[in-house]
Amino acid sequence: MAWRARARGLSVVVLERGSFGAGTSRVAAGMLAPVAEADAGERPLLALGLESARRWPAFAEELIEVTGLGLDYRRCGTLLLARDRDEAEALERERALRERMGLRVERLLPSAARRLEPALAPTLRGALDLPDDHVVDPRLVCAALARAAEEAGAVLRAGVEVDDLAALPAEQVVVAAGPWSGAFGDEARVRPVKGQSLRLRDPAGPGLVERVVRWDGGYLAPRHDGRYVLGATTEERGFDTAVTAGGAYELLRDAGELVPGVLELEVEEVLAGLRPGTPDNAPILGRSQADERVVWATGHYRNGVLLAPVTADIVVAELAGEPVEHAFGPARFARAGAAA
Ligand code: GLY
Repeated sequence: MAWRARARGLSVVVLERGSFGAGTSRVAAGMLAPVAEADAGERPLLALGLESARRWPAFAEELIEVTGLGLDYRRCGTLLLARDRDEAEALERERALRERMGLRVERLLPSAARRLEPALAPTLRGALDLPDDHVVDPRLVCAALARAAEEAGAVLRAGVEVDDLAALPAEQVVVAAGPWSGAFGDEARVRPVKGQSLRLRDPAGPGLVERVVRWDGGYLAPRHDGRYVLGATTEERGFDTAVTAGGAYELLRDAGELVPGVLELEVEEVLAGLRPGTPDNAPILGRSQADERVVWATGHYRNGVLLAPVTADIVVAELAGEPVEHAFGPARFARAGAAA
């Protein structure tokens, strides 16, 4: 948002309580996966995710071009996996749903999936190929965005905690405080949803799996250098970020069943982060009804990295006085409450 706001000629200061990209973004896997995440009840969110995925290639290209930094953007596709008959039947329902939505999806026999990814277990019961779901490294993206924003003339201040928006000497304030946004007003109907994950490394280098692989309850996302993100639990535990033996055990047990080679990898990090969840799993974007200086950019739940380009475009249009029509404003919860 800061980078794009500078391109519109706005003067920008970014205030960050800790260091840049050290919160939710540091823990995010970086899956650009609107198709894998698609849910029948969340059509507006799917449309927003698809739109942002469409913007990602140009966004990444421009970011690489202006910074000279890599993002590890892999147009690798995603496989959804089934371990048993029930999961294979569920996968067939998922395939039919995506086909009805006009999304690219192909059913694969276990043998065909194992030809694509030989590390998959022989016990695999079925798979779907989603060629349009990609992955990027959010830590690299954050570093590149900080540099791009600074080079474009934004002022970045780390280690500055904001208690009171009214005290900020700015014409407009964007609140992008993720799961902590609720501290800045009731409109930010955001709650923390804990996710534990592991960072694994293959000393033999890349190649165990080339694609993102996902199953009911988890995923394995490859980086270019033999590192993998194995995620993630979904836990409603407030602001607790403890890593637990049970969390790591469940992830490794499930991954080991589907990709046995995972159990040979080295563990580099065990992490817990907080997703900013909302009542409808969609982000909160746009001008506050309570304070016209405030614009919300929060509540991205499982899709913050995917939704970055479209969020920047929507929010910066709002800041520039040229708001675009969309269904993700903060007023939707007040309307839902009134209707109920
Ligand atoms: N987007 C993946 C996760 O939230 O775990």
